[in-house]
Amino acid sequence: TDVKATNVYWHDGEVSREDRNKLLKQKGATLWFTGLSGSGKSTVAVALEKALMEKGHLCYRLDGDNIRLGINKNLGFSAEDRTENIRRIGEISKLFVDTGVIVLSSFVSPYRADRDIVRELHDAGEMDFLEIFVDVPLDVAEERDPKGLYKKARAGEIKNFTGISDPYEAPLKAELVLNSHEQSLEEEVEILLAMMAERGII
Ligand code: PPS
Repeated sequence: TDVKATNVYWHDGEVSREDRNKLLKQKGATLWFTGLSGSGKSTVAVALEKALMEKGHLCYRLDGDNIRLGINKNLGFSAEDRTENIRRIGEISKLFVDTGVIVLSSFVSPYRADRDIVRELHDAGEMDFLEIFVDVPLDVAEERDPKGLYKKARAGEIKNFTGISDPYEAPLKAELVLNSHEQSLEEEVEILLAMMAERGII
């Protein structure tokens, strides 16, 4: 990105991220769900959020449609706009992680390089970033078509639709792969909770 802010400096406070994590009895982290529209990213994030809340953990969901209705309403679906969308969400996720919150980010995020930028942002801040590939075959996602978008894309009414007229680059080094057409939602949540416990996030 082109940097226009010069002569600006990070200002430290007297309360650290570790202090906040201790207060919340958890470790802030980003779980990044990537996959086709209709793959089940949001569904699993919603179920995980509920399970975490029941266990007494503070988490927050960032979701494609919601973010695009607000902070990113000036962005469309060109490659450039998707990159900027994901960059901003990466920064937002980092801010939440710094507060000690567990962030569940669900975005198509079709470009590997964009997801890698978010990973690097987290690495630079010594923050956990777990990439979770919600992997379903295109025909399964298209069959589900919860918003009727695949139908519109096939009819040529939506341009640059991921999987139809725009690429999706599958992760090569995801921390976890979920198959929502073969696993139950409960199984997926159990796997995610186990992974989080193993990494000391919860
Ligand atoms: S991206 O690629 O990460 O910037 O996309 P994201 O912010 O996750 O937004 C995806 C949701 O926007 C709707 N939508 C589209 N998706 C893909 N391609 C095109 N052209 C498109 N146009 C609209 C769609 O509802 C996606 O929501 P999900 O929840 O993934 O189905």
